[in-house]
Amino acid sequence: MSKLKVLVTDKIDPEGLAPLRAHAGIELVYQVAPKPEELEKLLKGVGAWLVRSETKITADWVTKAPDLRLIGRAGVGVDNIDLPAATRRGIAVVNAPAANTLAAAEHAVALMLALARHIPKADASTQAGKWERGKFMGVELHGKTLGVVGLGRIGREVAKRAASFGMKLVGFDPFVTDAQAREIGIEPMSFLDVLAKSDFVTLHVPGGEKTNGMVNAAALAKAKKGVRIINCARGELIDDAALAEALKSGQVGGAALDVFHAEPLPADSPLRGLPNTILTPTWAPPRPRPRAASRPSSRPRSSISTTRASRRTR
Ligand SMILES: NC(=O)c1ccc[n+]([C@@H]2O[C@H](COP(=O)([O-])OP(=O)(O)OC[C@H]3O[C@@H](n4cnc5c(N)ncnc54)[C@H](O)[C@@H]3O)[C@@H](O)[C@H]2O)c1
Repeated sequence: MSKLKVLVTDKIDPEGLAPLRAHAGIELVYQVAPKPEELEKLLKGVGAWLVRSETKITADWVTKAPDLRLIGRAGVGVDNIDLPAATRRGIAVVNAPAANTLAAAEHAVALMLALARHIPKADASTQAGKWERGKFMGVELHGKTLGVVGLGRIGREVAKRAASFGMKLVGFDPFVTDAQAREIGIEPMSFLDVLAKSDFVTLHVPGGEKTNGMVNAAALAKAKKGVRIINCARGELIDDAALAEALKSGQVGGAALDVFHAEPLPADSPLRGLPNTILTPTWAPPRPRPRAASRPSSRPRSSISTTRASRRTR
């Protein structure tokens, strides 16, 4: 019996690759970020292609892989894969939507704390030999209101953690009923009301027509003055120029961003060098994360959802 050739072109934790290596029926080809001419050769005879978010599987690549039957995405988003092209060829595309939930939620909470306590600035000052005790007092989270936009997997985990800090929770998600939101301790309201009432707002919605640019100049103008915004979801949700203006004017008191329109973040991005802004380099790819990396190969039936059922992002 001929072996199934599995090609992996993004960095995957060794723990995630181990079951593929150990499988007698699989020939594993692990080549991170191959050049186009190299990739074309590698694709010959490939039955399954496993990626994270770095590899872009375009329609062109799909046609260059005649034996391809399965594309696996270690993580949530499938926007690096041309789904219509894969569907036309009858190639199944599978992802691992819950693999990063806790890490993403913890990162959002870490950013919220860092924003509240000015931790990056306090560290930089102390590392530079200063001792500026009074300068970075910040605010307590206890008693503050957190607005959670998107009450899915990550939004709910963030909410749970924020509740343990004694924060009040409000939220917006048009696909979650008011009763469901209240059940998880979140007062449901419109997006603009969330902005108007919240001291901190954390975004956990997918990108798309309805959500791209939802944090724009008009929305920010309705926000509570000094609101702090955390975005670990999609860069496209925020109008960068509007946010930059609002940060400069003080309408927005701080922003902690892990995702951007263009990644890596361009050197001349208007988001760099702004007051009270924390930028992290999208912690997900390319660093290996055992959870995300191991699930698609080790638990294919129970933990992978088909992308046709839900086109989640990242
Ligand atoms: N920074 C990272 O590395 C990282 C890691 C994992 C996930 N993410 C991103 O985090 C986001 C949330 O992920 P998740 O796993 O919680 O997804 P999820 O699908 O579980 O939750 C998304 C929620 O958004 C809601 N939603 C959809 N459209 C909306 C709209 N127009 N307005 C308000 N709510 C809307 C949905 O009803 C759902 O409850 C996604 O954008 C994902 O790409 C980022």
